[in-house]
Amino acid sequence: MKDFSGKVTVVTGGASGMGLAMARRFLADGAKVVIADIEQSALDTAVRDLDPTGERVLGVRTDVSSSESLQQLADKTVDAFGGVDILCNNAGVETGGPIADVTEQAWRWVMDVNFFGVLNGCRIFLPLLEQRPEAHIVNTASVAAFATGTPTMAPYCASKFAVLGFSESLEIELRSHGSTVGVSVLAPGPVKTRMTEAERNKPDSVKVSTDPERQKVIENLARKTAEVGMEPADVADMVAESIRDNRFFILTHPEIAVQGVRTRLAWMETGTPPAPRTAGA
Ligand SMILES: NC(=O)c1ccc[n+]([C@@H]2O[C@H](COP(=O)([O-])OP(=O)(O)OC[C@H]3O[C@@H](n4cnc5c(N)ncnc54)[C@H](O)[C@@H]3O)[C@@H](O)[C@H]2O)c1
Repeated sequence: MKDFSGKVTVVTGGASGMGLAMARRFLADGAKVVIADIEQSALDTAVRDLDPTGERVLGVRTDVSSSESLQQLADKTVDAFGGVDILCNNAGVETGGPIADVTEQAWRWVMDVNFFGVLNGCRIFLPLLEQRPEAHIVNTASVAAFATGTPTMAPYCASKFAVLGFSESLEIELRSHGSTVGVSVLAPGPVKTRMTEAERNKPDSVKVSTDPERQKVIENLARKTAEVGMEPADVADMVAESIRDNRFFILTHPEIAVQGVRTRLAWMETGTPPAPRTAGA
């Protein structure tokens, strides 16, 4: 897809961070944008900032962990703009702790948002995307899908592995069937967003870990991201270019992703397990 002008884009988690930057980039390129987010106030602010006229931007409060909510998002998008050309399944959350302490509710929250949100987004929107002459899906994973073993982040890592495995399978299947829908996976390293405050959106049933190692990991990650994190707008530019070139892997920090894969390969080939990772490295 070379030209976004007049195209309809849907971005989940679009009220903050990378999702908001993607929305801004698509708008600048002439697209119409639907931003979907669970935070109503952030959504209202984002819609006002992006397009005060409200002609090319629609905000739809959406909980991606619910397939009913995603179906409503699809229905409202079609009502407002007549179809969909680009879907960015970007909403994501993180909580964790030592594995023995992580409750089933915490695991389910992370998997429901990060994995089932992406899966159900693809399931529900694919028939709409296939009605267009050309269309594209971008699923947000993380370098955590390549580089494993960051202490206290097992739920996040497992959910992003699932996003990667599903996205690779989807891309291969659609391409082998000659589909007009392209697929990319965005696997960011540290990016300056509100990700380390993701527990702001947790359900009451999910308890925040008070484990000291967990606190240290999150503090370290927040500090590292503030120091060396990429700007969301730069990630959004990479996303736009990758859709244009129909490129599958969108790697903001390829050195982290590739090193993660190399470490796993060495583990498989030599049997020597890796050392635990440092958050943000
Ligand atoms: N920032 C990073 O360093 C980093 C690194 C790797 C991957 N990621 C991934 O990037 C994606 C975007 O996150 P971000 O970094 O911009 O963080 P962010 O917290 O700034 O934005 C995430 C957005 O998702 C929304 N959201 C949370 N739960 C939701 C739900 N159930 N339904 C709908 N919306 C929901 C939040 O309200 C927020 O607006 C996530 O999938 C995250 O896992 C981020």
